[in-house]
Amino acid sequence: MKTVVVHYSRYGTTRTIAQTLAAELGAEVREIKAVRERGFLGMGLRAVWGIPMGIRPMDLAFAGVERIVLCTPIWAGKPANPVRTFLKEAQLEGKRLAVLFTAGGGETGRAREMIRNSLAGKRVEVTFLGEIVTRKVGEDQLRAEARKLARALQG
Ligand SMILES: Cc1cc2nc3c(=O)[nH]c(=O)nc-3n(C[C@H](O)[C@H](O)[C@H](O)COP(=O)(O)O)c2cc1C
Repeated sequence: MKTVVVHYSRYGTTRTIAQTLAAELGAEVREIKAVRERGFLGMGLRAVWGIPMGIRPMDLAFAGVERIVLCTPIWAGKPANPVRTFLKEAQLEGKRLAVLFTAGGGETGRAREMIRNSLAGKRVEVTFLGEIVTRKVGEDQLRAEARKLARALQG
């Protein structure tokens, strides 16, 4: 199955996981980049108030791609704002979307609901791969978690 691993990462943990996952799956990686990155408070306020964050031009068409593995940090219980922009702009019709959250250990129920809602009416098959807790976790452990996940996705 042709898979692309898409991620957004402000501090690097989600990037480490996405890159490892992609290497294991033999998949292409695409990074969502914010037009302007913000500090912790700026991100937090935008997450709480739902203020959109623009993303830089990237390939949003996914021609010939069957599955997209989307890796997103949780901000204030929600998918990070640049990922929310990606979900609005990407051409995901007819695709399988597998979502992985990175978080400090908080709840992801609301984030799942927001992703489902943002895709309502579109023909997208969404599954959730769970959450990798990144708080006080070293890079080696993040890579190990990603490899475990890759095995599950391959199996
Ligand atoms: C603005 C902001 C808000 C966050 N809110 C939450 C939260 O509500 N729950 C949680 O478990 N983690 C939260 N986190 C932690 C991140 O989800 C976690 O550190 C993630 O691994 C960051 O990914 P990155 O290193 O790729 O940027 C927040 C982080 C930031 C920067």
